[in-house]
Amino acid sequence: MWKPPAKIKYETVAGQWPDQDTARNSKLFSSIDIGQCTLTSRTWIPAMVPWRASPDGFVTDDVLAWYGRFAAGRPGAIVVEATGIRDVPSGPLLRIGDDRFIPGLRDLVETVKQASGGKTRLFIQLIDFLGVRRRPTPEAYFGKHLKITDHHRSNLGMQDASEQDIRAKLLTLDQDALQNVLNEREMESFLKGHRERVTDTHLDHIRDLPKVLPDLFADAAARAKEAGFDGVELHYAHAYTMASFLSELNDRDDGYGQNLEGRVRLPLEVFAATRERVGSNYPVGCRFLSDECIQGGSNVEDAAWFATRFADAGMDFLSLSRGGKFEDAKTPKVGGAIYPYTGPSGYECMPGHISDEQGPFGRNVAPVAKIRQAVRDGGHTIPVIVAGGMHGFEQAEAVLENDEADIVGFARQSLADPDWFKKVASGCGSEVRLCEYTNYCEGLDQKHKQVTCQLWDRKALEEPDCRPSSDGRRRLEAPEWSRNT
Ligand SMILES: Cc1cc2nc3c(=O)[nH]c(=O)nc-3n(C[C@H](O)[C@H](O)[C@H](O)COP(=O)(O)O)c2cc1C
Ligand code: SF4
Repeated sequence: MWKPPAKIKYETVAGQWPDQDTARNSKLFSSIDIGQCTLTSRTWIPAMVPWRASPDGFVTDDVLAWYGRFAAGRPGAIVVEATGIRDVPSGPLLRIGDDRFIPGLRDLVETVKQASGGKTRLFIQLIDFLGVRRRPTPEAYFGKHLKITDHHRSNLGMQDASEQDIRAKLLTLDQDALQNVLNEREMESFLKGHRERVTDTHLDHIRDLPKVLPDLFADAAARAKEAGFDGVELHYAHAYTMASFLSELNDRDDGYGQNLEGRVRLPLEVFAATRERVGSNYPVGCRFLSDECIQGGSNVEDAAWFATRFADAGMDFLSLSRGGKFEDAKTPKVGGAIYPYTGPSGYECMPGHISDEQGPFGRNVAPVAKIRQAVRDGGHTIPVIVAGGMHGFEQAEAVLENDEADIVGFARQSLADPDWFKKVASGCGSEVRLCEYTNYCEGLDQKHKQVTCQLWDRKALEEPDCRPSSDGRRRLEAPEWSRNT
């Protein structure tokens, strides 16, 4: 992962933990409504892909155990990982693009209900993403992927050459020479792997996204409702389709890009279709970016404007992340896939302990406060959720007390210790296993390996009920909390 050049090392500091009475009377452990649904506390586990679904996208026993373990800690809400709305193969990522996925998802809802004693509300994040190819070998790229055109012939001064000769010639060129022959996009496809963009409107399936996505999201949300989820989160964040529509880089000229109205149009149409399908009583919100954190990308002013439009449209909650884009991601090795959390914007999304003057903790708080204020100025009271480096009670309580957000998201902190909520609420905060923000977990995600936390995954592997990872060297779930051990 990219690290800020200042390379300042930070240690996570717990801050003051509350006793049971203080916790009980705190804002963090007070209830809040999301539409018709009440959260028992203002704590939230944002979506995290654990790479535990079956190869064809079904809920597995490992998925049930993963969410059951989080639910046992009794957070106010859990958002199930980004779940694909299309019925297309996408590896071991959860899917909801067909009714056959409903029974497994229903088991997931039941598992969380049981494990949390009915205390944790369960949302599911709905995602659409475009095609991304692995970085090709030069032989594969110049031998077959690259479409040879007259512009290559003329740049090479080989106007009359056959396609085969052009391909053979390209294979002999070094990177500098290739810069003079390939266009920017071709160069990128060669060095990073081909990646579709929402602006590729010359491709039918991309041009038609505004025609197909509202129904795909709405159908997926209807399935989530049928499976018993308490609500859905439309994934409008990071490097994926809907975030790309919101992006300042979206220059589509068909009314779905170029300016703020154009960029927000499809996200609003997707929401409208979803709302119509699931009804006015079913909680629907979205996750989007407080800032894309890339050159030429959307900023916090854009996000505040989008937020008011989402609230005007009737969304029930807004969850804010930041960064996580392909545009500044690291060049992958040949055969590897580009990963949107490897550049500076990736750092902003999942800030690590090696940081800059600002540090990794609560980097998203100030922008979120600004966005929330815009929503309040627009006359809306819907909850706004912040995430990014949140780990301490005092830290979270201050955000709520200062009216910077309404709900606090703890992603990696809940992975490090799923019992955070139970421990802090019962006055046992000193027993919390604090996240060190090393991003070991994120490294596993990048390699599409089952995600675990380095603070617990090698502990007591011999315990009879310990489920090992597929390499047998790590435990798949955090150990049980036994007080003062
Ligand atoms: C392993 C892993 C998987 C993630 N998967 C998702 C995801 O599916 N959807 C999403 O919106 N964010 C995802 N995130 C980002 C987190 O939800 C969160 O925004 C980020 O980790 C910053 O919050 P934190 O500092 O509390 O961890 C993931 C993060 C991690 C570490
Ligand atoms: S591996 Fe564990 S300690 Fe490290 S960042 Fe992830 S959750 Fe935190």
